[in-house]
Amino acid sequence: MKILVVGGAGYIGSHMVKMLSNSGHHVVTLDNLSTGYRDAVKYGEFVEGDIADSSILDQVFSSTMFDGVMHFASYIEVGESVIDPGKYFRNNFSNTLNLLDAMVRHDVKNFIFSSTAAIFGEPDYVPIDEKHPKKPINPYGKSKLMVEQALDDYEKAHGLQSVCLRYFNAAGADPDGELGERHNPETHLVPLILQAASGRRDAISIFGRDYSTADGSCVRDYIHIVDLCSAHLIALTKLVKGSGSKRYNLGNGNGFSVIEVIEVVKKVTSRSFNVIEAERRPGDPATLVADSTLARSELNWVPEYDDLSVITQHAWEWEMSHFNH
Ligand code: UFG
Repeated sequence: MKILVVGGAGYIGSHMVKMLSNSGHHVVTLDNLSTGYRDAVKYGEFVEGDIADSSILDQVFSSTMFDGVMHFASYIEVGESVIDPGKYFRNNFSNTLNLLDAMVRHDVKNFIFSSTAAIFGEPDYVPIDEKHPKKPINPYGKSKLMVEQALDDYEKAHGLQSVCLRYFNAAGADPDGELGERHNPETHLVPLILQAASGRRDAISIFGRDYSTADGSCVRDYIHIVDLCSAHLIALTKLVKGSGSKRYNLGNGNGFSVIEVIEVVKKVTSRSFNVIEAERRPGDPATLVADSTLARSELNWVPEYDDLSVITQHAWEWEMSHFNH
């Protein structure tokens, strides 16, 4: 297949580009490098540009007849979205419409969208399946849900087929050690704990010990980056063959508390580090765990690295090699 990966210089996008390329597909990355890294795009062609720019989009779509588009280019900080909602609605929603309109103009029919567990808001029940009510509690989650809703209408109007993949907590790194997580600033739990273990940071804070969970800290469903990517590849392959539009929740279905993740990292790294109990972070639901039965049955998707020790081990190898400790 010929695939356009928008946001291919970011954490998830760069792993996707590698997998697609290694599976024999022709990949073009389009990324404005606002949060991604040029040196993370190790395969295929690279075009620097913004999806807000219709002329760049027309150029890219004119140069290659793509079988599909995967879209990873969005802002992902929940807290920032509350403070600066315009940034989120403009990039994550409005600029995505610009991309979809370019696809329509160039008759590209297959779209894989990076959605999120944040579209569900505070869960009514866990594990969260696809039927769970969608009531996002922050502009980030709203911006993603708005794209999902727009996609229903683009399908009716233009025949554009889409698969929306709602990620729970993406973690880990390329098992070959070539790629990893490099957010700046970093806000995600696993890389922050690893930075505490490697000495790049003084301590790790537990945001809240008074949640209604077994040990009082928040519970999340951590999924290996490579398993997320394999779901994208299967989804696009099926979409191109005519599976029709789908929505899937992607996680392992296992919840780990913040304290449990810290314990796993201590074991994996054999390092000790300071742990601080801190206030709750606004907007954090107590428990988010995916029910991915649908993805497993319809996509025949089987996560390969569903062990948190392996997920954190791969991320640790990246931390050690990339940051040279
Ligand atoms: N946490 C800490 N200390 C830290 C950082 C995080 O205790 O220093 C806690 C958070 O409070 C949360 C858990 O660790 O309970 C996981 O936090 P992350 O920031 O790693 O991930 P989130 O669950 O907040 O966010 C992830 C994605 C978002 C997405 C969201 C969906 O990163 O993009 O899931 O709910 F929106």
